[in-house]
Amino acid sequence: MFELLKEQPADKILSLMAAFRADPRAQKIDLGVGVYKDPTGLTPVMRAVRAAERRLVEEQTTKTYTALAGDAAFGAAMTDLVLGDAVPAARVAAAATPGGTGAIRQAFELVRMANPEATVWVSDPTWPNHLSIIRHLGMKLASYRYFDEATRDIDLDGILGDLARVAAGDVVLLHGCCHNPTGANPSAADWARIIAVLKERGALPLVDLAYQGFGDGLVEDAAATRLIATSFPECLIAASCSKNFGIYRERTGILMAVVPEAGMQAVVQGNLAHLNRQNFSFPPDHGARIVTMILTDPALRADWEAELEEIRTTMLGLRAQLADELKRLSNSDRFAFVGTHRGMFSRIGASPEQVEAMRAKQGIYMVGDSRINIAGLNRDTVPVLARAIIEAGV
Ligand code: LMR
Repeated sequence: MFELLKEQPADKILSLMAAFRADPRAQKIDLGVGVYKDPTGLTPVMRAVRAAERRLVEEQTTKTYTALAGDAAFGAAMTDLVLGDAVPAARVAAAATPGGTGAIRQAFELVRMANPEATVWVSDPTWPNHLSIIRHLGMKLASYRYFDEATRDIDLDGILGDLARVAAGDVVLLHGCCHNPTGANPSAADWARIIAVLKERGALPLVDLAYQGFGDGLVEDAAATRLIATSFPECLIAASCSKNFGIYRERTGILMAVVPEAGMQAVVQGNLAHLNRQNFSFPPDHGARIVTMILTDPALRADWEAELEEIRTTMLGLRAQLADELKRLSNSDRFAFVGTHRGMFSRIGASPEQVEAMRAKQGIYMVGDSRINIAGLNRDTVPVLARAIIEAGV
């Protein structure tokens, strides 16, 4: 049988991780995979996570199974973090998943179960794994214009024009904040217009919320998701705890389904649990329990929010420094977008050849589409990157 298997294409982001590790140069700079790094290059275990883990070790009396949808307290705490009081809890079905990717996968599967003919619309560009999972599931795929290569901002006319072609029941995947890979995001006024078009078309929004707290703040980054939840009778939300809790390898995420009325909650909840059972049975619990403990303990929560804010402002500081440095070296404002983009990423506009030249010459690793991870920089490497960008002729 195995001879029938074809080689799979390498994941663009993950293969970059391996190439970076294999590079012997001491001055190399990793701006590839979306992982937060502190100024010393470490991805720290957050203080509140460490404290919660210690407490868990002391207090946990069993590791028997939880529930197919995960611990209900995790669902409640995450629903509150993401949705606040935007919709009544009775209208939300939720299931824990292995990471945000697991939530995305379960969301697509739920759609395929209910409406196999639905097309999934994704922004062009989007996170490459979105495309890969949709294709793997054999679902119909379409894309909407998103990014204006000239301004490095969103292409609002393109977004609205393409979304006007969505058919009723189609799924539209939206990045709730901190767009990956571009870093360019709709303003509140833009979101209102996007939502108006989607409502008119009868679309089902699916929000990917992987970076809540990395853009403008925990509440601010949830604003678009909350507006969507209140604007549509139903929507799906895939939230990740990997980045904002720094628990990447624990695989902690959640899929939420906002249903039109409380009477439909039970059947949707049952479907989420069923899908978990088919794919992996019980979702991972360790990370989810840590997150629940942090979100429900006032002292742990305050410490987590403070550290998350440090992370966010560190990234904003690096953005400002890089924008200033590029302004000085290019003697122009054409890189001002680096300062206005939000989240870990910015697509800086280098060609694949220029990306390759920066890797070969300066040991700077960025994704082939010129996405950089701002958190891979520190105050000393920002000027190195800025010089390399100008030298490469970007
Ligand atoms: C990224 O885009 O770099 C992250 O979401 C990590 C991943 O799994 O690709």
